[in-house]
Amino acid sequence: MTHPHLARPAALSQDALKTLVGLAALRYVVPGEIVGVGTGSTVNKFIDALATLKDQIKGAVSSSVASTRRLQALGIAVFDCSEIDQLSVYIDGADEVDHQGYMIKGGGAALTREKVVAAQSRQFVCIADESKLVQTLGRFPLPVEIIPMATRRIVRQFAAMGAQARVRLKDGAALVTDNGQHILDVVGLQISDPLAFESQVSQWPGVVTVGVFAFQKAQVCLLGTANGVKTINF
Ligand code: 5RP
Repeated sequence: MTHPHLARPAALSQDALKTLVGLAALRYVVPGEIVGVGTGSTVNKFIDALATLKDQIKGAVSSSVASTRRLQALGIAVFDCSEIDQLSVYIDGADEVDHQGYMIKGGGAALTREKVVAAQSRQFVCIADESKLVQTLGRFPLPVEIIPMATRRIVRQFAAMGAQARVRLKDGAALVTDNGQHILDVVGLQISDPLAFESQVSQWPGVVTVGVFAFQKAQVCLLGTANGVKTINF
């Protein structure tokens, strides 16, 4: 039997790690300013934590209808991205992040607006649990937002790369994004040059946004680990 004083502390759940990094991201929020807010279960923890500072910020720019609803329900003002020139910081999760700060995003289907808000921000702070850190992007199925009429050709273009693309479904029908488009999830990729990959696929007609965030990479990652929050500066 293990002596109670020698027992290892119980491992934190993935949910607890998300809460930790959501809280840790508060130190990147600039008082008196508008903060860029991403989408997803990790960001939801950040939004909940942000509510404790709501009187110290001007408000938020949101990357999805879901995040907007959550922010507003907590009394945080949401500004339209097109009203704002530049944000100091954008805080968002990722499906994968590598050791350069390149990411795969879009698991929550919000990649287009996420990339738009990230592009308007001086600093991208990625919040993630340690399961998201990878050597090479591509283990997570790559989300690509597309215009529906281009589906068959884009599926063939991925097949020519040796990858398989499938239309994401919701309740048995193609999922429709906040922008009225569809999502392909692409498996079988090893993205060794994220900048080149993002450039290439972004140029295919009918691609709205590819879920590789290389040009809009993270500058900081707050990674939830068994030993607490690790800060990685890229
Ligand atoms: C949404 C995203 C999310 O940031 C990504 O899917 C991670 O989500 P979660 O925090 O729920 O794991 O890109 O489009």
